Amino acid sequence: MNAFRVARIAVSAPRWSATPSRGAKTKARPQQSYNPPAQRRTNPHLESFKAEQQQQAKGRGHGISPRVQTAFAAGMLGIGLYCGLIYTSYKKEVAKSQSLDIPRDVSDRYNVTASSFDADVETSEKVMRIGAKRKALLQLARGHTLEVSCGTGRNLEFYELGERRGVDGKGHAQVSGCRSVTFVDLSPQMVEITRRKFESLYPDFHFATFRAQDAGAVQPPSTATLHHYDTIVQTMGLCSMPDPVATLRHLGSITEPRRGRILLLEHGRSHYDWVNRILDNLAAAHADRHGCWWNRDIGEIIRESGLEVVEEQRYHLGTTYRYVLRPKT
Ligand SMILES: C[S@@+](CC[C@H](N)C(=O)[O-])C[C@H]1O[C@@H](n2cnc3c(N)ncnc32)[C@H](O)[C@@H]1O
Repeated sequence: MNAFRVARIAVSAPRWSATPSRGAKTKARPQQSYNPPAQRRTNPHLESFKAEQQQQAKGRGHGISPRVQTAFAAGMLGIGLYCGLIYTSYKKEVAKSQSLDIPRDVSDRYNVTASSFDADVETSEKVMRIGAKRKALLQLARGHTLEVSCGTGRNLEFYELGERRGVDGKGHAQVSGCRSVTFVDLSPQMVEITRRKFESLYPDFHFATFRAQDAGAVQPPSTATLHHYDTIVQTMGLCSMPDPVATLRHLGSITEPRRGRILLLEHGRSHYDWVNRILDNLAAAHADRHGCWWNRDIGEIIRESGLEVVEEQRYHLGTTYRYVLRPKT
C-alpha cells in the first residue's frame, strides 16, 4: 500500500465509534457516533425563482403567448357550447319526428309548397352542385322525351330542344336533342310553374305538353309511328311517390324497348350507417314538411323494378344517385 492510498483511506474512513482492543483496560469514554456530512443548504427564494424561469423557458419553447392560449380556450368553449346546442335541438327534433304518424303518401304537400319550392332548395342545390349533375344527365335526353315529377322545372335550362342528326366520334350516325317534350307532375301548382318558365325560356318551341297527372298513369304516345317515349327523365321524384317500384315498372313499359332510356337523378339512403341513422330519425318530420321520404333505399327500388341498369353513380356520401336505365329485354 503506498503512502498515497494510506493517506486517502485515513481521510475518507468514516468516523465509526472506536472499538477497544481485546485485553485493554476499558475506560469510559464518551460515545462517538457517526455524523453524516452536513447537506448544503439551499435558498428557497432562489429555488422558486429558478422554477419560474424554467417554466417561462418552456412556454417560450411552444411559441404560444398566454393571450393566444386564452383565445384558443375561449374558442373551444364556444364550439363546445354550439355543438351542445345543435345536439340538444337535434334530440328535440328526433323526439318530435318519432311521435308523428305520417301516411306513406305525402305528395299533396307540394300543392302548398309549390310557390316557395325553388327558394327552399336553391342553396342546398348550389352547395351540392346539383345543377351540374342535372345538366350532365339532360345531355342524354333525345327524341320524344317525357319528364315525370317535373316539379317547378328545375331541369328546363339544360334541355337541348330540336332534334339534330350527325355522326359520333366513331363515325356512327347519331341523333341528339329532343323532338318533343311532355312534362307531368301530380301537383297542378308545380306543373303550372314549369309551364310558365318553359314558355319564357323557349317561346319558339311548339312541341311541348304540360299535364297534371300521376306518373304511374301516363299513357304512351299513340300516333301511327310513335308508341313509346325515347327518353324518360325524373329527378328527385322517387322520394315523393307512394309506390316508386310500381311507377318505375310502368315507366319501363312506355319506354322504347331497344334504344329508349330512363334517366334518373335521385336522393336517398347513404353508404354510411351514421348518415342513415340521422335520415331515419328525422324522416317523418321531413316527409310531413316537404312531402319527401329522404331515407329510401333507391338502389333497392331500382332492383325491384326489374329495369336494366346501364349506368349507376353515387355522390354526397352515397345519398345522391344517378342512373341510366333501360327496359329489360
Ligand atoms: C322533390 S320534388 C322534385 C321536383 C323536380 N323534379 C326537381 O328535380 O326539382 C317531387 C315532385 O314529384 C311530384 N310527384 C310526387 N308524386 C308524384 C306522382 N305520383 N306522379 C307525378 N309526380 C309526382 C311532386 O308533386 C313534386 O313536384
